Amino acid sequence: MSDLVSVMETLAAQADGCVSCTLGLEGRRQVVWGRGRVPARILYVGEAPGEKEDRQGEPFVGPSGEMLVRMLASVGLDLDKGYVLNVAKCRPRNNRTPLPEEIEACTRRWLRRQVALVQPHVVVTLGAVATSVFLPGRRFRDVRGTLQTSSSEILPELSVFPLYHPAALLRAPAWEDPSDPKPRTLRDLRVLRGILNAMPPYTPIVPPEKIHV
Ligand code: URA
Repeated sequence: MSDLVSVMETLAAQADGCVSCTLGLEGRRQVVWGRGRVPARILYVGEAPGEKEDRQGEPFVGPSGEMLVRMLASVGLDLDKGYVLNVAKCRPRNNRTPLPEEIEACTRRWLRRQVALVQPHVVVTLGAVATSVFLPGRRFRDVRGTLQTSSSEILPELSVFPLYHPAALLRAPAWEDPSDPKPRTLRDLRVLRGILNAMPPYTPIVPPEKIHV
């Protein structure tokens, strides 16, 4: 087991029972930390756990996760070869959108350290909420499907590629409808594939012994 994996496991254990924000007091069953490879070329970032994730303790194991797997597979990407997590680690009651202060507390305490351990070459943000954490003040529709550099004070200088959230594709109307995000997502995924193909092979940027989380 690499040092990075054991540090990640130690952090996850520390986060167990976290009450750094109101979500910890709102009836979540457990903290949904994240899963995947450490380090990893691609970090996938969602919003918050849903019902199934809250039960199972893993992100994207419900219908959104199935859609995400299919989206990525359409361009030969495998979710299990990356790392996947959410900007809020606890399920908000009735699946409400997590509040900015809840996300900020979680980002300062946990996400920042998770990103440092995963060392991604590309952060794929899923939906407007996850995107706003890395690209504050930018409109989702202006950045979706393009490679950006994160401008967050907490998470600076990461390569970020925003996609629609898979739930938006599940809710979507038929393909023929001009508001259907599926054709645009396919285009975005092909752009992402091209960007990854043009990148050098993945190597973690910082050796494990130099990482201080
Ligand atoms: N939606 C998310 O944003 N994250 C999950 O883990 C599941 C659904």
